[in-house]
Amino acid sequence: MLILGTASLSPCVSFPPSPKFPHPNPNLNLNLFLLSHPSFTPISLHPIQFPSRSKRFLSPNAPNFIVAASAKAEPLKVIISGAPASGKGTQCELITQKYGLVHISAGDLLRAEVAAASENGKLAKEYMEKGQLVPNEIVVMMVKERLLQLDSQQKGWLLDGYPRSSSQAAGLEDYGIRPDVFILLDVSEDILVERVVGRRLDPLTGKIYHLVYSPPKNDEIASRLTQRFDDTEEKVKLRLCTHHENVDDVLSVYKDITVKVNGNLTKENVFAQIDAALTHVVEQRKMNSRSVAA
Ligand code: AP5
Repeated sequence: MLILGTASLSPCVSFPPSPKFPHPNPNLNLNLFLLSHPSFTPISLHPIQFPSRSKRFLSPNAPNFIVAASAKAEPLKVIISGAPASGKGTQCELITQKYGLVHISAGDLLRAEVAAASENGKLAKEYMEKGQLVPNEIVVMMVKERLLQLDSQQKGWLLDGYPRSSSQAAGLEDYGIRPDVFILLDVSEDILVERVVGRRLDPLTGKIYHLVYSPPKNDEIASRLTQRFDDTEEKVKLRLCTHHENVDDVLSVYKDITVKVNGNLTKENVFAQIDAALTHVVEQRKMNSRSVAA
């Protein structure tokens, strides 16, 4: 479907994300082409950023642009959640390989700050070492900014380990940032501890290994593997307590789109369940956009 029309948009106007002005059809991605520009640069505006009903963004003196909009399925948006070491990072690797989503891990963003020894990183480390949630002042903007970057908007995103509290979930809702599906990895506690203590990371490739379940393929890789500072039996118990304190609040926000996955199985079998759920969502969205275009 191609829609042609005119719009009076100020070229300097900014589009703050606001849930109060959602696009009327969330399955439509409006690719706007400002045809007055010599290079016809396509500008893709995400629905939550498009203040379609807001007169306060329109200027009476603004030039008229011709707008062409095509109906296209929105990129997929996924949240993956689960206790510490339930396999979120491992599954994210497989999901991004198949679905090409942008992986945004709250833990990885925080560890990057810790490694850079920034002020935020130094403060975050104090909480991470105690297995507690890092304060929202540090984590909320960090994740929101990454979600709103162009690659996440265009390719879709896979949010890992966020939100972890009712206030973080409410913050996303306030910005109109809502996933299509919320995957919950369900793993029994004794398995979690075993997974944490055996986990190793390859600093060169970022790949996650386990000394027993997913060992490195050769001695060269084995020799450079590192262990996370919070991957001890003592610390994982603290992280688990924090998880149990918050998980129900987060689940209550997403209960209508939650898919609970048995995470006790091999990583291939866990992925098969996730893959089936995501395929279902993708198929449904294709059907919806076809019926809009018809
Ligand atoms: P974060 O880094 O998110 O840690 P986590 O939630 O504790 O989860 P992990 O990364 O430990 O595990 P995972 O589920 O990714 O498992 P993985 O795939 O590696 O957060 C760290 C800290 O940062 C938090 O404690 C908190 O302080 C802070 N933080 C993070 N987010 C925050 C937020 N939103 N707000 C405030 N603070 C925040 O797998 C684990 C091991 O098991 C690996 O060795 C893997 O090879 C193995 N494995 C995986 N799947 C399988 C399988 N199916 N079978 C056998 N082995 C498997």
